[in-house]
Amino acid sequence: MASWTPAEIGDQTGRVALITGANSGIGWQTALVLAGRGARVVLAGRDPSRLASAAAAIRARVPGAELDTVVLDLSDLHSVRTAAKQVVDGGPLDLLFNNAGVMNIADRRTTADGFEMTFGTNHLGHFAFTAQVMPALRRAPAARVVTVSAIAARWPSGELTDLMSERRYRPMGAYAKSKRANIVFTVELARRLAGTPMTAVAVHPGAAMTNLQQETQGAVARRMMGLLAKVAMGSPEGAAWPSLYAATEPGVRSGDFIGPAGRRQDSGTPKPARLPRGADDRATGATLWADSERLTGVTFTV
Ligand SMILES: NC(=O)c1ccc[n+]([C@@H]2O[C@H](COP(=O)([O-])OP(=O)(O)OC[C@H]3O[C@@H](n4cnc5c(N)ncnc54)[C@H](OP(=O)(O)O)[C@@H]3O)[C@@H](O)[C@H]2O)c1
Repeated sequence: MASWTPAEIGDQTGRVALITGANSGIGWQTALVLAGRGARVVLAGRDPSRLASAAAAIRARVPGAELDTVVLDLSDLHSVRTAAKQVVDGGPLDLLFNNAGVMNIADRRTTADGFEMTFGTNHLGHFAFTAQVMPALRRAPAARVVTVSAIAARWPSGELTDLMSERRYRPMGAYAKSKRANIVFTVELARRLAGTPMTAVAVHPGAAMTNLQQETQGAVARRMMGLLAKVAMGSPEGAAWPSLYAATEPGVRSGDFIGPAGRRQDSGTPKPARLPRGADDRATGATLWADSERLTGVTFTV
């Protein structure tokens, strides 16, 4: 497609979309657009008051928006299980956006279940959540799972070894690993969904200044980040386009990796992007799947 904007998204009345990390940044922008197109949007996030404010801000822009909230802390498998049960009890789910994320955590921290925080939140939490909401996805006519990755998935430090960063912890290395896992998971999910009406798509949003950069340490680094935001980053609004495109465009294929087509791949019309080298390797996908099941204790059947 030559050019695309969210204006092309058709009526979403009757569809249900759940977005993790919907209280800010790209997730909130995604929720705003889908609510404006008539979808019932479930905002998932770890803090009830931030969720309530996010819902109020959408209602202020989209009067009559159909919104729900679900408390979901991806760094705690108990919370993931409780939230997933609530979603499954709520009926069919057409669109799942695995959008929430953390980045650049200065010192190695662990989740409630002892996983390295970045990998545990960005990949393992979403793996367990997707597995546990499958009954709701299966009940929709043609559900789509959109997982938000990043260009960082292509970095050499994103190699899927030492998943818990026990041998060496590098804040952005852990992020790159988690974002590579988002893509490898999507490609493997697409493989397993073949022959069903369900599809799985990974996206990268380009670059936008959001709360994601809040862990950036030091006054100088923060100033640099502010400068970078002005000259080289797009808006959170534009950064939501790949997610929206991946979820709503009929031509998107299961297993695709969608990103902005701009020269620096930071903004513009979404289109299929180059996968990180080896991300579609069958053995890599099967290994990550088995490791994720073993670590989370969740059996993921499609
Ligand atoms: N911004 C960029 O330039 C960029 C580039 C590439 C990829 N991405 C990806 O885009 C996605 C969205 O990021 P963003 O830029 O919109 O940043 P953001 O504004 O910080 O949004 C991240 C969201 O994730 C939520 N979250 C964090 N930890 C969570 C947990 N344990 N459980 C549940 N929710 C949690 C945050 O909730 P709280 O408000 O409670 O912290 C927030 O709602 C991420 O996956 C990120 O990796 C962003």
